[in-house]
Amino acid sequence: MGREFLDIFTDWSSDYDDFVEGNDPEYKAVFEGYSNILKEIVQRSGMSVLEFGIGTGNLTKQLLSSGKWVFPIEPSKEMRKLAKKKLPSEVIIYDGDLQNYPNPTKQLDTIVSSYVFHHLTDTEKGMALKKYADQLEKGGKVIFADTMFESQEALNQKIIQAREQQFYALADDLEREYYTLIPTLLTLFDLAGFNVSIEQMNEYVWIIEGEKRA
Ligand SMILES: C[S@@+](CC[C@H](N)C(=O)[O-])C[C@H]1O[C@@H](n2cnc3c(N)ncnc32)[C@H](O)[C@@H]1O
Repeated sequence: MGREFLDIFTDWSSDYDDFVEGNDPEYKAVFEGYSNILKEIVQRSGMSVLEFGIGTGNLTKQLLSSGKWVFPIEPSKEMRKLAKKKLPSEVIIYDGDLQNYPNPTKQLDTIVSSYVFHHLTDTEKGMALKKYADQLEKGGKVIFADTMFESQEALNQKIIQAREQQFYALADDLEREYYTLIPTLLTLFDLAGFNVSIEQMNEYVWIIEGEKRA
């Protein structure tokens, strides 16, 4: 599992950058402050970074521009093709996903992603976080920006609101994918051995940052 939503990105890839720029009314609030969210991840990251689900390469580009070494992973062939156009020609984008990916060629100090972690179920998220902890040294970080909700009620409310606004694609998306409840995510990070903090970036997106304890 974990790759069950890939077909969506095959269809979405060619106009994905229009969405992140806020040109689609349904997803405008989800991508509000997108470039600021990416900037925040870059600022919090160390110098040796693995990035999951790079999409069209927007975060990768910023990480590289800040002089960081990046090991980029993306399961969608279409997205990899688009990202390749945006990134320096020597950058290799690896086929992999949040659970199965090639071994990084350097010791990592940070693992990042934006708008990706909700593709795993909560059980898968817990297992993946333990794997990430094994790949980091003490003080190493996992920094994930993603849509998440403070409670099941908050998620249900957003689905109702989206349907009222006739944002049917957004409502279906919120019902279909594995958007995490924040208390659950905090527990999963803790169980995997991370000290954790969280910050809200817009109506939907939060940045969760875990620092490996030992
Ligand atoms: C909403 S896009 C986010 C792209 C990019 N990170 C950004 O912030 O613009 C989600 C990306 O995650 C990828 N993806 C889907 N399932 C995945 C998985 N299980 N593991 C890693 N990436 C996945 C998709 O192909 C897509 O490129």
